Amino acid sequence: MNLDSAVAVVTGAGSGMGRAAAEAFARGGARVAVLDLDGTSAGATAAGIGEGALAVEVDIADPGAVEKAFARIDEAFGRVDVCVNAAGNPAPGKILSRGAPLPLERFTAVIAVNLIGTFDMMRQAAVRMAANEPDDEGERGVIVNIASGAAWQGQSGQAAYAASKAGVIGMTLPVARDLAPHGIRVVDVAPGLFDTTMLAGLPEAARESLETMVLNPKRLGRPTEVAELICHIVSNRYLNATTISIDAGSRMV
Ligand SMILES: NC(=O)c1ccc[n+]([C@@H]2O[C@H](COP(=O)([O-])OP(=O)(O)OC[C@H]3O[C@@H](n4cnc5c(N)ncnc54)[C@H](O)[C@@H]3O)[C@@H](O)[C@H]2O)c1
Repeated sequence: MNLDSAVAVVTGAGSGMGRAAAEAFARGGARVAVLDLDGTSAGATAAGIGEGALAVEVDIADPGAVEKAFARIDEAFGRVDVCVNAAGNPAPGKILSRGAPLPLERFTAVIAVNLIGTFDMMRQAAVRMAANEPDDEGERGVIVNIASGAAWQGQSGQAAYAASKAGVIGMTLPVARDLAPHGIRVVDVAPGLFDTTMLAGLPEAARESLETMVLNPKRLGRPTEVAELICHIVSNRYLNATTISIDAGSRMV
């Protein structure tokens, strides 16, 4: 997929990796729909990009709101070529805490965003991509989901988050199979530990302890490093139906 003249939809694009991906796409010549739950941060990303960016405030866990967001994208750009699902809800919670079970709605809320919201975005993007004229190799679109190393190494208190990200990885092959006849690829990236607002609230000691889990280079990842990988996935048409870790060898304990 050639980014120049493409339309990319990026969720969670108000911050962190989603923002870095939206900015990288724009630098590559794409028009970008910047989606985020936080309308102010989506607006800031879009304003930073300037012409060719559309900010849309949307909760991806709300199917009606997602439908409306795509209606705005249809109106502004008339097509979708790339969809990056970076929106994520990390809300932690142990299954038992002070003798009480985790309220089930806390588990459901994480699944609703990270797993069901990602699927909803994929289906809405795919139906539009399938209507694109294929390029000379039959390609009509590319979907990239941000999973997480937590799918395999979820830490204590991360049952919902780990389950949601393992679900994203699990559905990637069947969705790629469903969409292959339409010329649409689906690839996940699984980041390790990245320096974004998701980790910003941690005390310095907790950040330092996370850094000890990274093999080399011994630091948290930069959102731009994930954005570079996503741009490569979009351009390399032999990548499909797989999950690529980007974690500097870190293993969470
Ligand atoms: N930071 C890390 O170490 C790390 C590691 C592995 C995976 N991830 C994943 O990477 C992705 C990007 O996270 P990040 O680290 O850049 O965090 P971030 O907090 O900087 O960005 C996440 C963005 O998603 C948005 N968002 C949250 N819920 C949403 C919803 N329901 N609808 C629309 N937007 C919503 C937030 O408003 C925020 O702007 C997430 O899926 C996260 O789970 C992060």
